[in-house]
Amino acid sequence: MKQEAPSKATAGVRRATAVAHPNVALVKYWGKGCAATNTPATPSLSITLDTLKTTTTVVEVRGTDHIVVNGRQVADAKIEGFLRLLRENFDIPPLAVDTSNNFPTASGLASSASGMAALVTAINGAMRLDLTLEEQSRWARRGSASAARSMAGGFAILDARNGWAAEQLLAPDDWAINVVVAVTSRERKTVGSTEGMELSRQTSPFYEAWLDSTVRDCDAALTAIAHRDFAALGSVAEASCLRMHAVMLTTDPPLVYWNAGTMEGIRRIRALRETGVGVFFTIDAGPQIKAVCLSGDTGKVRAALDDLPGVRDIHVTGLGSGATCVPS
Ligand code: DP6
Repeated sequence: MKQEAPSKATAGVRRATAVAHPNVALVKYWGKGCAATNTPATPSLSITLDTLKTTTTVVEVRGTDHIVVNGRQVADAKIEGFLRLLRENFDIPPLAVDTSNNFPTASGLASSASGMAALVTAINGAMRLDLTLEEQSRWARRGSASAARSMAGGFAILDARNGWAAEQLLAPDDWAINVVVAVTSRERKTVGSTEGMELSRQTSPFYEAWLDSTVRDCDAALTAIAHRDFAALGSVAEASCLRMHAVMLTTDPPLVYWNAGTMEGIRRIRALRETGVGVFFTIDAGPQIKAVCLSGDTGKVRAALDDLPGVRDIHVTGLGSGATCVPS
């Protein structure tokens, strides 16, 4: 049911609009070291997507919070819980939060990462909290750990070195890389990441080995990035992705996020690579395929995925910057 928006902002009412982009982990995060502070158990490393985005406006209102996601008023437990957490630490009045994505929500395209990053950025701007980017990344992490990486943009790492705030390793223009996102389902996923990774921690016999491998994968990815070694980065990213899905599949009850289109997409990408195209795949907690490629190979990658029977939409994107406030 579509609801009326709260009354229009008047002069002096605090408001701000922020834009943040989703990110795709090349070394995955799947498991928490501390649930209370939402601190990951392992480092993770990601690239930020440019053309996919979340736009969030927050406006100070009277009464109670009013949350609108993609044009519909919702009771969003994640956003509500996050606002409660911020209010324990900052003086924040009731807010109208209006957030929308230009891509499918909660279907494995990291909408919670861009969503939390945009929310923290908009609240920081509207309430003039004067938080540094690093502090905003730490707060975004409390909302959703992957969101910490969307604050930083470009190639980003989230690890203990920086007190679990993400740092940018490379700016978006430092390496000419594109991502072809093949959407193989627009459905919302049935088991969200937070719940899924906790189930994996409790039940997957592979979980401890996964944690160990992630630390090694992160070091290998850092070396590959420092040398701009695309093949080495692809090899570690695919291994991290497949190991995470092995943990998911061996969770009880099993977390099977792939569909037939996902599997066919993997097959196509591997076949394309055999012909000399610079491309590798990664997949998150959903069935969408993200084909990461050298920008000169984008046309070939898009063509290879475009006519797959299971592919519903294709998004082609470069690398994006961190979250920022925009004119409201
Ligand atoms: C598969 O960051 O959504 O996308 O911290 O519980 O909100 P919470 O989880 P979230 O998990 C992301 C999982 C992933 C891998 C990744 O982005 O590293």
